[in-house]
Amino acid sequence: MTASLMTEPHAHSAAGAPHAAAHAAITPRLVVPGSGDAPLGLTAERALGTYAPGAEGAGFLDELERSGLRGRGGAAFPAHVKWRSVAAGEGPRVVVANGEEGEPASGKDRWLLTHRPHLVLDGLLLAARTVDAARAIVYLSHPETVDAVRGALDELAAAGDDRAAHVEIHVVDPTYVAGEESALCRSVNGGPALPTAKPPRPFESGVDQRPTLVSNVETLAHAAWIARAGAEAFRAEGTDASPGTALVTLSGACNNPGVYEVPLGRTVRELFDEVGGGLAEETHGFLVGGWFGGMLRRDRVLDTVCCYDALRALGSGLGCGAITALGADDTPLRVAADLAAWYARETAGQCGVCVNGTKAIRDTFARLADGAGHPDDRDKLVRWGDTLPRRGACSFLDGAATLARSAMAEYPEAFPASA
Ligand SMILES: Cc1cc2nc3c(=O)[nH]c(=O)nc-3n(C[C@H](O)[C@H](O)[C@H](O)COP(=O)(O)O)c2cc1C
Ligand code: SF4
Repeated sequence: MTASLMTEPHAHSAAGAPHAAAHAAITPRLVVPGSGDAPLGLTAERALGTYAPGAEGAGFLDELERSGLRGRGGAAFPAHVKWRSVAAGEGPRVVVANGEEGEPASGKDRWLLTHRPHLVLDGLLLAARTVDAARAIVYLSHPETVDAVRGALDELAAAGDDRAAHVEIHVVDPTYVAGEESALCRSVNGGPALPTAKPPRPFESGVDQRPTLVSNVETLAHAAWIARAGAEAFRAEGTDASPGTALVTLSGACNNPGVYEVPLGRTVRELFDEVGGGLAEETHGFLVGGWFGGMLRRDRVLDTVCCYDALRALGSGLGCGAITALGADDTPLRVAADLAAWYARETAGQCGVCVNGTKAIRDTFARLADGAGHPDDRDKLVRWGDTLPRRGACSFLDGAATLARSAMAEYPEAFPASA
């Protein structure tokens, strides 16, 4: 297996990738030229329009709706629907920028926070004004992102901008489930960063039991851009249903892994050719949408457009925009066994069905990988793939089930029926 794929979460090369670029066909919005290794400072950000007045209040909600912006944190939920739901709740309200990024194959939120913290803060403050929030919080776990956001707030304060005083930073230990929205609220409320049962959802009752807008940091950065450039300009890139640009993290068997700002609607093949430096010839498949989206065979996905709906139709999803190319060393058996072991390790351990389900999937793949499979192992994996989704308090277990289902469906020949 490629080293970049299977090292520990938060330490692997894609997640820490300092390298970022924008697709040559677009005028970059987030990855601006000059965003080198250090955060873009306040003067440079102001020159780009960050913190400048733009659409506000109800007018901005309409603009957000026209833009068609969908959340970049994984679920691709329409941003305007969520913002309106929170705004409709009884105040005081809370907004949180989710920069936890527990997905091992993703590095885009870390890149954004360490290079354009002001743009994220601009989006967070815009959200706070729009929904009339009493608290605005940045939720983080990686030390370099904490430093970058603190630095940006200090810079604002030193410039006499009192908006800095209204932003709080909440630091949480990095785990996969810590970024789930109910875990986030629980952690900010002083509890463990573990998901809670729904309902209520955070937009109804979250931080301080108040209506809470939890938004991915990239979503907020796009919102800030839309407030000034407008919905029409946002829609100049992307597709009708998945408009705009997105930050993707390309990793694995390609020549130029990194974080890229790309127009939505390019095929997977185009992305790897045009910004990822080309795929290794032996690439046989992909993990799309991070480790959460299961395995997809090369031929099924290569000419699929990267938009939220086309990838969902394949039983996967663009999720947080992480795509890992599986190379010669990444045999389906090995990948499935390693990812299943990761799921069993990362379960929050709260729901019996999740603890037992991830353990059973791990043990079964491990047996198959060792050539010691039982005759009914394949059937069991297919069954778990069908029956486990939506059984846990959060959708973590759905990811493990997707792994089981997709491995069996995409690579049937790679999993011998019995030893
Ligand atoms: C297990 C799990 C982990 C998640 N981790 C993150 C994360 O690290 N960052 C993030 O923005 N969203 C994460 N999400 C999604 C959040 O629950 C939430 O939907 C998202 O922050 C909303 O932002 P958006 O509407 O801007 O996409 C996770 C969801 C699940 C089920
Ligand atoms: S489904 Fe799994 S990860 Fe989610 S809350 Fe339950 S035990 Fe935790």
